[in-house]
Amino acid sequence: GKYRVVSTKPMPGTRWINLLIEQDCRVEICTEKKTILSVEDIVALIGEKCDGVIGQLTEDWGEVLFSALSRAGGKAFSNMAVGYNNVDVNAANKYGIAVGNTPGVLTETTAELAASLSLAAARRIVEADEFMRAGRYDGWLPNLFVGNLLKGQTVGVIGAGRIGSAYARMMVEGFKMNLIYFDLYQSTRLEKFVTAYGEFLKANGEVPVTWRRASSMDEVLREADVISLHPVLDKTTFHLVNKESLKAMKKDAILINCSRGPVIDEAALVEHLKENPMFRVGLDVFEDEPYMKPGLADMKNAIIVPHIASASKWTREGMATLAALNVLGKIKQYPVWADPNRVEPFLDENTPPPA
Ligand code: GLV
Ligand code: GLV
Repeated sequence: GKYRVVSTKPMPGTRWINLLIEQDCRVEICTEKKTILSVEDIVALIGEKCDGVIGQLTEDWGEVLFSALSRAGGKAFSNMAVGYNNVDVNAANKYGIAVGNTPGVLTETTAELAASLSLAAARRIVEADEFMRAGRYDGWLPNLFVGNLLKGQTVGVIGAGRIGSAYARMMVEGFKMNLIYFDLYQSTRLEKFVTAYGEFLKANGEVPVTWRRASSMDEVLREADVISLHPVLDKTTFHLVNKESLKAMKKDAILINCSRGPVIDEAALVEHLKENPMFRVGLDVFEDEPYMKPGLADMKNAIIVPHIASASKWTREGMATLAALNVLGKIKQYPVWADPNRVEPFLDENTPPPA
């Protein structure tokens, strides 16, 4: 191969590798055992000559890596993630390196995990499973693991972009929940969907679902029974949910986070969980990954999973493929480039699964 492309991790499927090989690239996949590579590890991987890198959200892509990649003749860095808070885009621009992400292919998968956590929290599935495995079930009781019925309750969505909207539709249509959402942008499509579904229910003699766009995040926190966070992590959304916002929520609310950990003040959350046993959370992400704030893992009213929201086979293969196309597009000047400011995914959820 004429071009050298490095992937900092093995990625699912083979389509991404074949795409690169077919286009005159030599693909080098790092097989280092440790989970998180340091900046030094990646500088060594980049080496003397490297045309493009496919990297992961656990890596710190800043000044050091972009200057190393630029010295090696690199043109592109592709983050195998939709979020790119681990990438200093200004530093990339400074060194003339294009940055790509993988939107679109993970929208539904991520929304499905947020929905799974919502249901699991509402019906206390993880606690109940632990109870069974501990051999503590000695007969049906009217009061055993009583949870919340979602139907007729209000789902609150903070950040109604692709993922937030997909989640909202699932909860509204799947469970007949009313919607309240907060976003700087109006989501007309989402509003139309809920209106149309409400009319459908009404025509069938059922109670219609409703929607409202809140004028502040606090309005959502105060009114919703289940709240799911889907903002982009940046300076304005760091600790968006803090001690005060937790207090504003209903005592028995459910809070879901499949976005980025630092959106929640996790230490404040642990305190809130301790003081409010009826309050429940489902967390896919943590403030200081892979660590958890002390006490979180002891809380029965918390469901915690290791950042797996995009982890379906179709999606992870799609992310790898899109990441490869992003690098390839830049190296070979194909019009498939997706950059963070002009997100035009080559693949989306309507594209058939990679073969
Ligand atoms: C995963 O967290 C992603 O941003 O794709
Ligand atoms: C992320 O892709 C979002 O738009 O919510």
